[in-house]
Amino acid sequence: MIIHEPLDFWSCSGEILSRLHRGGVLCSVIDQLGRPNLITLGWGLIGPFYHGHPVLAIAVTPDRFSWHALEEVPEFTIAVPDDALAEAVAFCGKRSGRDVDKFKATKLTPVPGQQVRSFAVLECPINLECRTYTRVHPPHLLLTPEHRQKDLEHQHTIYFAEVLAAYRCRTG
Ligand SMILES: Cc1cc2nc3c(=O)[nH]c(=O)nc-3n(C[C@H](O)[C@H](O)[C@H](O)COP(=O)(O)O)c2cc1C
Repeated sequence: MIIHEPLDFWSCSGEILSRLHRGGVLCSVIDQLGRPNLITLGWGLIGPFYHGHPVLAIAVTPDRFSWHALEEVPEFTIAVPDDALAEAVAFCGKRSGRDVDKFKATKLTPVPGQQVRSFAVLECPINLECRTYTRVHPPHLLLTPEHRQKDLEHQHTIYFAEVLAAYRCRTG
């Protein structure tokens, strides 16, 4: 049995930002056929939002396999790793879901979402269920000068999402 232990988002916010900055976090996506994938992300913003939920923004380029899932299903789970998962996070940041099932390859355990279709990751100490409420297509000025020089079709789409739940999973 999986037990979801609720976490206070703001108590975790320092760790979320720190992991984004150092090695990245996992973003778990799902396409309209129900196929899950994991992508490592280092670009992220968090902050308070007037709806009451925290807001989290991620940036994903259309070159990524995960981008197609994010376009099809406007829900994702941010799974914040610890040091023990560094290898799995690096793997998800260099291999594509086009070629490999990353949950199987990394032996990470998918846990069905409570309010979203994407899976949480059992081994990650923080999981954030997110629902996209708007996305910004390029051209935009939020990315680095290096990224802004790329052709428009290769520039990141920025997804703004409400954080619906924050928790840690464990088996009981
Ligand atoms: C530390 C790190 C941070 C990354 N951050 C991002 C990011 O913010 N946005 C993005 O589109 N790709 C980012 N990437 C690259 C993707 O994780 C990588 O291209 C991945 O293989 C794409 O997987 P997919 O094709 O299955 O979606 C990052 C990679 C690493 C290693």
